[in-house]
Amino acid sequence: MWRKASVAALLALAVGYFYHGSPDLPAQILQYVSLPNFQTSSESLNSQDSLEQVISAAWEALISLPTRQWSRVAVGVNACVDVVVSGVGLLQALAVDPGTGLDHEVLRSKEDLKEAFIHFMGRGAAAERFFSDKEAFQRIARAAAEYPGAKLYVGGNAALIGQKLATYPDLMVLLCGPVGPKLHEMLDEQIVVPPESLQEMDEFHLILEYKAGEQWGSTQAPQANRFIFSHDVSNGEMSSLETFVASLEEFQPELVVLSGLHMMEGQGRVLWEDRLKEAVSAISDIRKDIPIHLELASMTDKDYMNSIMQEQFMPIVSSIGLNEQELLFLSQAGEGPHAEMTAWKGIPDVDRVSDILLWVLEQHGRSDPSSEADLTRIHFHTLAYHILATVDGYWGNQAAAVMAGARVASSQACGLQTVDISKVELKAPLEFYSSHTEPREQLSVNPTEPVTVWRRGNVTFHFTPVLVCKRPLRTVGLGDAISAEGLVYSELKTQQPF
Ligand SMILES: *[C@@H]1O[C@H](CO)[C@@H](O)[C@H](O)[C@H]1NC(C)=O
Repeated sequence: MWRKASVAALLALAVGYFYHGSPDLPAQILQYVSLPNFQTSSESLNSQDSLEQVISAAWEALISLPTRQWSRVAVGVNACVDVVVSGVGLLQALAVDPGTGLDHEVLRSKEDLKEAFIHFMGRGAAAERFFSDKEAFQRIARAAAEYPGAKLYVGGNAALIGQKLATYPDLMVLLCGPVGPKLHEMLDEQIVVPPESLQEMDEFHLILEYKAGEQWGSTQAPQANRFIFSHDVSNGEMSSLETFVASLEEFQPELVVLSGLHMMEGQGRVLWEDRLKEAVSAISDIRKDIPIHLELASMTDKDYMNSIMQEQFMPIVSSIGLNEQELLFLSQAGEGPHAEMTAWKGIPDVDRVSDILLWVLEQHGRSDPSSEADLTRIHFHTLAYHILATVDGYWGNQAAAVMAGARVASSQACGLQTVDISKVELKAPLEFYSSHTEPREQLSVNPTEPVTVWRRGNVTFHFTPVLVCKRPLRTVGLGDAISAEGLVYSELKTQQPF
């Protein structure tokens, strides 16, 4: 079928698929028509090609950078070094003997660590804990980093977003966060770290892995998992936030990317309540004409999410990146659509996701031009698909941006630089509705132009499937890579003042 399609037929399809019921031919479609290798890519496809192949080829042909690209982006404020090490191996190296498991809410010693590790290892359950004794933690962290076979990675959302942005040679990236010597050495050379952000010690996050069936003493792991702990006070207090805001004056970024709010969750309500207020006031000092993207992904506490909404974070940022869990939290916190759902069952329904995205932009965003809010863009990512929802008139190149985010998810989860179609599978629905209730449009995905577009009120939605990695290698930082890539391919329109 794809082989026979002429350009005219494809154009008709495109218009039909993309803009049901929308009278005006949007700029995006005109952009597609003028793409030079459009026909070539369709011709080279034949009916034997899998949907995965067709979609991947279409991404390659259709994703192009915007006319006006960012040249300076400032990113803050969480950064750390992830040390991935065998849990049993490290504990043996620390000379502790196996024993019985016992959970501790806070780890105060090597013994607490051992007991909590055994507790979760015996269940094969993931867990994350704070280690309160600074000196003891530093000794353990040193042992872990030097343990044979330990793997060190750049960690923390801001650092990961910075690393992704730095793969674009023309982009100057400022990173603010607790950067110790090890992290500094691992960061891309292109990343600028202000001197005030450099600290003597790295913030290590220790990730103790164990394999399915692995045995230690009388404990056996029913499945592979990881136990994570740290003594990360800097990130937990977002202590770099003020430095970050102060350094923007000199750096003059065109875009600010903020993440790490979720790190405060672990500090307990008393601490984060005040700190959130300070954070809002610090961020309010950023010049109004600089768009701010807030990466929400990895929040786990509904109350905390609720405070972020109430503390008026949403209205002072222009863009947010989140996943299905945070989206549902947002709706539950504000009694929005589908708030009665306790969790998504399987792949989140596009119609419900679309309802909540619209509600966020109408309730907390600038969908009504008379609103005081700045929020005009949401990059939603879930395993099987992504949606970029934007208020009309503020952003450009959305189709390329959402496809670029999906492409990076499809390659990076497999540990690759490019999509390997033998290693991925399509899991997204190819037919869905624009809304859960009437009036609604029936929509479908055209694999040769895998962006489905619909409009509701003053908001336009761009949907693209993800080619899901069948055997994911490392999913840490995937959301950060998706959001970073989506931003690189996004363009702010100038005609509308923020
Ligand atoms: C959409 O924008 C128009 C003005 O351009 C405004 O009058 C209307 O209230 C907006 N709709 C919503 C749902 O915010």
